[in-house]
Amino acid sequence: MQTDRLSYIFRARADGEPIQLYFGARIHHRPRYPNLERAEPRKSTPTRPSGEQPELMRCEYASPGRGDYRHPAYQIGQADGSRITGFGYRGYRLLDGKQRLAGLPSTFDDYGDDAQTLVIELYDDLAKASLELSYAVFPHQDVIVRSALFRDDGDADLTIHAAASLQLDLPRADLDLIDLSGAWSRENRLTRARLRPGSQTIDSLRGASSHQHNPFIVLAEPGAGEDSGNVIGCNLIYSGNFRDRIEVDHYGVTRLTTGIDPEGFSWLLEPGQQFQTPEAVLCAGDRGLDGLSRSLGEFYRRHLVNPRFAERPRPVLVNNWEATYFDFDADRLLGIARRARQLGIELFVLDDGWFGHRDDATSSLGDWVADPRKFPDGIGALAKAIHSLGLQFGMWFEPEMASLDSDLYRAHPDWLLGAPGRRLTPQRDQFVLDTGREDVVDHLFDAMSRVIRQTGLDYVKWDMNRSLTETWSAALPPERQPEAAHRCILGVYRLYERLTHAFPEVLFESCASGGGRFDLGMMYYAPQAWVSDDTDAVERMLTQYGTSLGYPQSMMGAHVSDVPNHETGRITPLRTRGDVAVFGDLGYELDVTALDDDQAGEISRQIAWYKAHRELMQFGDLHRLVSPFENDHNTMSWQVVSPDRRHSVVGWYQILNRPNPGHERVRLRGLDPDRQYLVREAGLDAGGGQAGRGDEDSSLALYGDELMNAGLFVPQVFDVFDPEHRSADFASRLFTVDTPDERN
Ligand code: GLA
Repeated sequence: MQTDRLSYIFRARADGEPIQLYFGARIHHRPRYPNLERAEPRKSTPTRPSGEQPELMRCEYASPGRGDYRHPAYQIGQADGSRITGFGYRGYRLLDGKQRLAGLPSTFDDYGDDAQTLVIELYDDLAKASLELSYAVFPHQDVIVRSALFRDDGDADLTIHAAASLQLDLPRADLDLIDLSGAWSRENRLTRARLRPGSQTIDSLRGASSHQHNPFIVLAEPGAGEDSGNVIGCNLIYSGNFRDRIEVDHYGVTRLTTGIDPEGFSWLLEPGQQFQTPEAVLCAGDRGLDGLSRSLGEFYRRHLVNPRFAERPRPVLVNNWEATYFDFDADRLLGIARRARQLGIELFVLDDGWFGHRDDATSSLGDWVADPRKFPDGIGALAKAIHSLGLQFGMWFEPEMASLDSDLYRAHPDWLLGAPGRRLTPQRDQFVLDTGREDVVDHLFDAMSRVIRQTGLDYVKWDMNRSLTETWSAALPPERQPEAAHRCILGVYRLYERLTHAFPEVLFESCASGGGRFDLGMMYYAPQAWVSDDTDAVERMLTQYGTSLGYPQSMMGAHVSDVPNHETGRITPLRTRGDVAVFGDLGYELDVTALDDDQAGEISRQIAWYKAHRELMQFGDLHRLVSPFENDHNTMSWQVVSPDRRHSVVGWYQILNRPNPGHERVRLRGLDPDRQYLVREAGLDAGGGQAGRGDEDSSLALYGDELMNAGLFVPQVFDVFDPEHRSADFASRLFTVDTPDERN
């Protein structure tokens, strides 16, 4: 298989699993690769009659129990208790394009981007099972998407105990693992460490992809940085329990597997049934992390995100959560909406607390009917009033959950996940619905559809605020209980599928207490996601910077909120909060009715500026220039560039102000070296209109090569210190870099 810049080579064999030969920068196509296949026998290792030594083989999808002591890609239990299998090659199919998978979020090639799908057909005669390994090649983004499909072709049951979506055996171990880990309110912190002998896993057993570990990982050559070096990125299109395992063996081979976490999982296959793994995305290149992120961003936009929204500008929103929490009624909300409209906001989002009798987090989840105390004229009346202001209307749901104090639970106690005789473990006073059940999905679809119709809703924020515990389903027989967690996620996908189909114009934003389910499975249905409950500008620099490694900024909901910040108590300038949030889908999450005139003016200008640069900020190529995870951990900078390289915006941020600092020059990227650019500081709060501080003397025309090689001088922050902000800590600057005589 070849993409524009990569080759992926393996060899199929009739008597065993396919052998991996090469994955990396593109090399010439040949019918055979004897040099890549060459191996010397070793003593003291199992040796098959054919002479093959499994421990020395690099496999496409390693089988268990037959002499390869590394972790296998799959395990299938058979009627006699054996888990030993050996799949041999039967044939292949080569298909133009890329079909979506049924029932799972998956990639596609609706735009005719030259994708092709190779399916390798394998068979195990003894287990009477077939296995298909799929490789969808997307040549222009250097992406290969893999998955596996198992089928029981015999007349006895089989049990799948593990089924990776992808395995990659790399012939080297001198690699760094880069991953995104964190916790609630501090998601996606970037860590980087050299691989060591043995196994390392990045995983989640929480029923969701989790705040703690994101499924996205990078394997990077030690010297690889943002703008150069060989890197491999891998991500899973899945939102439940997952595991990335990276195993370095004693011959210096690195085996990567990714897929559903086998811990606590199994899936029963009855004769004729099949099991499809989620898809995994593999992307590689020699243009560093920057290049990898951009290839992936483009890939998701063209081949994963709902095409209706993939390139559609996202509305500037106001969300009432941090403004009111549960304390609101229709009048208070309308007040916020009116003021928001004056500021230039386009979408009003009604968050938690509008349904049942929910005045705090202890009740009503599951009862998706508006609270008559808060909406005496009905939710339809509020929607109408919001729409007549010229705003779009969005609402919050948490479909997968129920409170014990809810009509839903009282009517259907068996709809909760819960092991017989065991006390349920609450989290945030709520419990998880068994969305693996068809009747639960039907009920949720009807309940949500009713509200969407009543309100002519434009947007849904779909939240999920707790992890799974006591994962046992009243609808499954004992032997299928290990399927429950996966079935729950499949039910979530079914519900998303039905709603996005029934209401194609509704924009979905996913959320799980912030970024607890920020993954590609969600991205397929919900083009944007709430990155973190932590809206503090400093924390957001870290979270959004880390997240940007694996996800495009158009996926990141980014809001300006009040100070002192509700998570950190930190007071940052409004300007900095705006300068961070504009590198995402901008929103406001504060009581806009309480703003003084200065603040309101500043916010109006932020919004006007953002609208003028929206496409660039949401869909432009992102370059990370200065990492807050490196150097002095005190500065950060990034940049977006338009596809035609005529326009760019650079954000520069510092955490603490240091006295008497050295001179700061930030080297830009992605510009045309031979083009002249006008560099201006965009003073969002300076009353300078849409695009400037009004200080024309500070505009500079500079060649792209100078900006990229010598860098842009960033004036010391104290020079612009505005006493009204009381502190020069947490300062930021935004520069527009434009080809003259356009857009200025
Ligand atoms: C979660 C979300 C928040 C908000 C609350 C409402 O924490 O991440 O944005 O919607 O729930 O309860």
